[in-house]
Amino acid sequence: MGLGGIFSSDMAIDLGTANTLVYIKGKGIVLNEPSVVAYHVKDGKKQVLAVGEDAKLMLGRTPGSIEAIRPMRDGVIADFDSAEEMIKHFIRKVHKHTTFSKPKILVCVPHGATPVEKRAIRQSVLSAGARRAGLVAEPIAAAIGAGMPITDPTGNMVVDIGGGTTEVAVLSLGDIVYARSVRVGGDRMDEAIISYLRRNMNLLIGESTAERIKTTIGTARMPDDGRGASLLVRGRDLLNGVPKEIEITGAQVAEALAEPVQQICDAVMQALETTPPDLAADIVDRGVMLTGGGALLGELDLSLREQTGLSISIADQSLNCVALGTGKALEYEKQLRHVIDYDS
Ligand SMILES: Nc1ncnc2c1ncn2[C@@H]1O[C@H](COP(=O)(O)OP(=O)(O)OP(=O)(O)O)[C@@H](O)[C@H]1O
Ligand SMILES: [Mg+2]
Repeated sequence: MGLGGIFSSDMAIDLGTANTLVYIKGKGIVLNEPSVVAYHVKDGKKQVLAVGEDAKLMLGRTPGSIEAIRPMRDGVIADFDSAEEMIKHFIRKVHKHTTFSKPKILVCVPHGATPVEKRAIRQSVLSAGARRAGLVAEPIAAAIGAGMPITDPTGNMVVDIGGGTTEVAVLSLGDIVYARSVRVGGDRMDEAIISYLRRNMNLLIGESTAERIKTTIGTARMPDDGRGASLLVRGRDLLNGVPKEIEITGAQVAEALAEPVQQICDAVMQALETTPPDLAADIVDRGVMLTGGGALLGELDLSLREQTGLSISIADQSLNCVALGTGKALEYEKQLRHVIDYDS
């Protein structure tokens, strides 16, 4: 084995709206952190203060001199400079041998990304220190990571519900037959909870509180007892401006989330209607696979089953599927070469 074999750590990156994961060839996932960069701003100059987990703790809590940014929106780069800072930081954190060789890096992109957006992602990976950058379509990565038989001549439907987008795709023979990306995901759910509490309870809460409500008592379906689990939530009373604490219930969260949940269901229905009949029949047989963090929303699988009549599964390690799938493309590049795009 040459030096390159020993020292270069080729890697796969899932550059998500909410979380970035890094997979190293031969090792698996070695990093999983929020996609957030915090800067110290002084005299108009910005200096990176924290990236990832530490930076996320600062979101919504920053004084005037500190700015916390999420570089990705809707699955694509919204702030080029901070995206590059973030990628560099994470690569440095996992890649200890940059002096010996530059790594090859695969990174996944939403199916709906434009050529300009794809170029931006490729460029930021290259300037962060990659020798070569390959792109993998996110729905394919998600399906591989969920263990679906994507190279078979049958229709497979995967629904990846991330922070920024939900991507619905039908795959057959290793490629995308139909894909649609809607800008609805975990972020939209958090916003829906914030606006519900503001409108109905005069309570102002921040994004991290909304996310905590969603992940603890959030549900896509009205609870059978009409109430569900409950949680004490603190925020600011909009009537008198002081902090207050109220109890909110699963039923209220279900009401708040009704719209984003419906939009996800609609995207699945639309995919079914547009899929060629034989492949649609395969999907009826095999069911639908959910991946991404949004797949973990309480009873979302049940709600989708009720509305579509299809059987719905949640992938094991749903938050890791895209990184695992992109990693697999790296490990088995010979067999999976056709899913990697090195030069668009
Ligand atoms: N138990 C849970 N219930 C509901 N939502 C959850 C749960 N756990 C995580 N999430 C949400 O999943 C989202 C993150 O998922 P994921 O890491 O798949 O997104 P991403 O890949 O960063 O985004 P995208 O694919 O859109 O770029 C966040 O909005 C998070 O709040
Ligand atoms: Mg994702």
